[in-house]
Amino acid sequence: MTVLAVIVPLILLCAIRRYQKMQYENRKPFPFMQLPQELRDMVYEHLIEDPVYPPPQLRLNHGSSLWMIPGLWSSSAASSRRLHTSNWIFLANKQVYKECMDVLCKRATFHLTVSPHNYKPSSSSSPPPPSPPHSEDKRLWNISPDTLKDLRTASLNLITTSAMLGVPDPRNMTSTDWTLARHVREELKQLVNVKNLTLDAKALGDPLWNPLWIWYHACQSFKTMGTSASNTSPTGPKLNRITFSLDTWSPGENYLARHGDEDKWTWFCMQGHGVGLDIGPEMTVREFCGKLYQECRICRPELESEEE
Ligand SMILES: *[C@@H]1O[C@H](CO)[C@@H](O)[C@H](O)[C@H]1NC(C)=O
Ligand SMILES: *[C@@H]1O[C@H](CO)[C@@H](O)[C@H](O)[C@H]1NC(C)=O
Ligand SMILES: [Zn+2]
Repeated sequence: MTVLAVIVPLILLCAIRRYQKMQYENRKPFPFMQLPQELRDMVYEHLIEDPVYPPPQLRLNHGSSLWMIPGLWSSSAASSRRLHTSNWIFLANKQVYKECMDVLCKRATFHLTVSPHNYKPSSSSSPPPPSPPHSEDKRLWNISPDTLKDLRTASLNLITTSAMLGVPDPRNMTSTDWTLARHVREELKQLVNVKNLTLDAKALGDPLWNPLWIWYHACQSFKTMGTSASNTSPTGPKLNRITFSLDTWSPGENYLARHGDEDKWTWFCMQGHGVGLDIGPEMTVREFCGKLYQECRICRPELESEEE
């Protein structure tokens, strides 16, 4: 009895010690850097979020400087950054930062917005000369040139008021003269490796203006980008889809898309059925309107019989 009384607590004590030791060993940092590259990349893919430029306004300003990422964002506007908890991964070390940026540029969609928040139309009636492309304060998006060069997928969102056309009468404007579009095309030239670039032209409500003017000029200004018909040098990246939207409810408009390296644009209905080829750089606003609202014969088969 006495032997047992001594041995049982001893065994228990050993077991507890061993358990504590196991726990302690498990608390050692996980050897992340010893994982194969493919597995590390999978982890990064789970952590990254699609970057949004300019970032949505940060409501709480405290602590913002702690999670800034050098190179990706500059300190000047740090207080207006959105807090991404997942971005802590970038701070781990230089190698993780580099690998993570690499995955971000390859996998994430960069959302680039031009809106009244980051674009102020000049008030002068004559269009000013195009701004030098790399001047810091004129840049629409605070992204380092290295990142711009590497990114593969981007969506460009034009959120446009009539004032942003910069002319008193949109009927007289030639799309190639649109200052805003020229500025945007200059900055987009840096996206030399982009494979998937889409444009959404959103017209903000204005009782005096027809949103058609914004859609028309956006379409005409950007659809030749990246092709031999482009009037910039270099020609810049190619868009593969252009959609048109309103800030209010709308029944939906047709959109433009092209596939692969083709230069031809095709109009599609909202369900993705082709409704006809685009006309090209000389399209008038009336022709544009016709394509934008072209009825789809697959969605509305009764149209065929009505015409017969
Ligand atoms: C291009 O990117 C958009 C997101 O911006 C996505 O919806 C679309 O499916 C992509 N297209 C291709 C061909 O990868
Ligand atoms: C603008 O166009 C309208 C008609 O489209 C014309 O009456 C007017 O003279 C034009 N103004 C200028 C400055 O060209
Ligand atoms: Zn259809």
